[in-house]
Amino acid sequence: MDIDNLKSSVLQAISSAENISALEEIRVSSLGKKGSITLLVKSVSELPQEERKSAGALYNDIKNVVSEALESKKKELESFALTERLKNEKIDVSLPCRSTETGRIHPITQTIDEIVSIFANMGFTVAKGPHIETEYYNFEALNTPSYHPARDMQATFFVPDAEPDSLYKSILRTQTSAVQARVMLNKKPPIRIITPGSTYRCDYDQTHTPMFHQVEGLVIDEASNMGHLKGCLLDFLRAFFAIDDLPIRFRASYFPFTEPSAEVDIGCSRKDGKLKLGNYGDWLEILGSGMVHPNVLKNCNIDPEKYQGFAFGMGIERIAMLKYGIPDLRTFFDSDLRWLKHYGFMPLDIPNSAFC
Ligand code: DAH
Repeated sequence: MDIDNLKSSVLQAISSAENISALEEIRVSSLGKKGSITLLVKSVSELPQEERKSAGALYNDIKNVVSEALESKKKELESFALTERLKNEKIDVSLPCRSTETGRIHPITQTIDEIVSIFANMGFTVAKGPHIETEYYNFEALNTPSYHPARDMQATFFVPDAEPDSLYKSILRTQTSAVQARVMLNKKPPIRIITPGSTYRCDYDQTHTPMFHQVEGLVIDEASNMGHLKGCLLDFLRAFFAIDDLPIRFRASYFPFTEPSAEVDIGCSRKDGKLKLGNYGDWLEILGSGMVHPNVLKNCNIDPEKYQGFAFGMGIERIAMLKYGIPDLRTFFDSDLRWLKHYGFMPLDIPNSAFC
C-alpha cells in the first residue's frame, strides 16, 4: 500500500509540476541518490531472499514508470516554455535601432556604396576580379602590348611568379580595367557592369598612394555609342555630387583601350584658392572614358563588326575627396581613429544616392 501511495504521489507531483525547476526537484527527491524511489529499489537487498525477485521487478518497474513520466513531462514543459518565449520575445523590427557610437564606415566604403547604388539604378551589375593579375588582362588584352609607352605611365608592382617561365608576368593590377577583359572573355554581350576595387601602383606622395581604388564601367551591346556614354556619365556625376546642373565636358584624349577616347571634366570654381563644384565656368578633370577599341573586343572574342560599347574609369579617392572635402589622399590609409571619426559615416547612414 505504501508503495502504491509512493508511486501515485510521485506521479501526481510530476503531472502537476508547473515548470522545469519544480520538475527537477521532484526528480532529485525521487530518483536522486537519496530519492524515495532510489531508496525503495535499494531496500530490496534488505528483504528476505524469497521476496527479492518479485519486489525487485516491481520496484524497477515503478522506477521506470517514474523516469518515463519525468521525461515526458520535461518535454511538455520545455515545449510550453519555448512557445511562451516565442510569444514574449517578439521583435518589433520597426523600432529604431540603437545607434553605434564608436564604429564608422570608411569614406571609401561609403563612396563605393553610393557609386554602386547609382549605377544599379541604371541597370549595371557589379563584377569583381583578382588583385594579383597577369600582364595579359591588365595590359595585353587591353591593347597595351609590352612595348607600349602607356605601360610606363602605370608604375607596376611585379609579383614573384609561381611559374617563372610563363609568358605573362604576375603583377598587382594597376587598373580595374583588367576586369573588363575577364568579363568579356566570360560573358556574351549585352554587358553592363561596374567593377569597384583596389588597384596598385608604385607611387607615394600627396596625390598618390601605392594602393588606391578605382571603379571601371563597361557597356557592350550592338548599339551603345558616345551619346550613351555621355548621358550615362552625366547622370552619374550629377547624382553622385548631388548637383542638378553640374556641367560636364568631354575632352579628346588617348587611352590604348578606347577609340575615340575622352577625358571628362566637371564644372567648378577655384576662387580664393577654394575648390567648389558646380556651374562656375572653370573645369576639373575627373575621369577617363571612350568607345571600347575594336582590338580589345577581338582580344576578348567579341566580334567588333557586330558589337560595340563604351568604358570609363575613375579614381574613387578622388571623387570621395571632392565630395566630402578631404584634403590629403594619404590620410585615407593612415588608420587614424580621429580621422575616421571625423570623415567616417555612421553604420546606418543610407547613401544619399538612394534618394536620387
Ligand atoms: N584605366 C585608366 C587609368 O587607370 C582609366 C580609364 C580610362 C578607364 C579610360 C577606362 C577608359 O575604361 O575608357 O588611368
